[in-house]
Amino acid sequence: MSDSKLPPKNTILSDEKALLLDHDYDGIQELDHPLPRWWVWGFVCCVIFGIGYMGYYMTGPGPSSKQELSKAMAEIEALKPPSANGSAGSEPSAEELMKAFKDSASLNHGHEVYTTKCLACHGDKGQGLIGPNLTDDFWIHGTGNLADVAHVVTTGVPEKGMPPWGPVLTATELKDVVAFVHSLHGTNPAGAKPAQGNQQTFKD
Ligand code: HEC
Repeated sequence: MSDSKLPPKNTILSDEKALLLDHDYDGIQELDHPLPRWWVWGFVCCVIFGIGYMGYYMTGPGPSSKQELSKAMAEIEALKPPSANGSAGSEPSAEELMKAFKDSASLNHGHEVYTTKCLACHGDKGQGLIGPNLTDDFWIHGTGNLADVAHVVTTGVPEKGMPPWGPVLTATELKDVVAFVHSLHGTNPAGAKPAQGNQQTFKD
């Protein structure tokens, strides 16, 4: 585009004269153009929307961020398959546990699961390493009976470094590994970790 068609610099067009403000900063003058209609209406609409929004969410019936989060979390929980919940519902029943405890095939299977999933922290014989000794009479969580072991294995103690296994293991793996852990009681392996927790007496 050729410059010759543009108005020369600092030229005020005739219809802009009325808009010229009466100040002059070192030769710089200002035109007071009215704001475009669409802009003004946009602004007015934003203000009206803002008042409505604040009224609804801050003083009215609108849900708070916390309420919206807990609603969304509840929806997510509802979509999860039951086995992935690691909840009390997915813990094996007392009968299932006792059956596995008395069945050598289940105990062997439990031993395999133990070797791949638990050995690193509890030692190859349950003597304890990062995690506590699982062979003695002392238990931090529960009494060491089948149901209590099933509970701590399912839900874990994440803040102390014991992972929750409910969401990881299948129902069979879980009951068999619990039965295997219980079968270690009283085995008194060499190099056992000193007792942690409270002393328990249990029969089964
Ligand atoms: C990453 C390490 C780690 C792994 C892997 C792990 N545990 Fe643990 N476990 C721990 C720790 C640490 C504790 C102690 C928690 C505490 O102090 O409350 C624990 C506690 C336990 C307890 C309770 C002991 C008590 O005295 O009350 C049982 C039972 C148990 N684990 C079984 C298992 C089984 C079964 C597996 C495998 C499926 C397993 N753990 C895998 C670290 C682990």
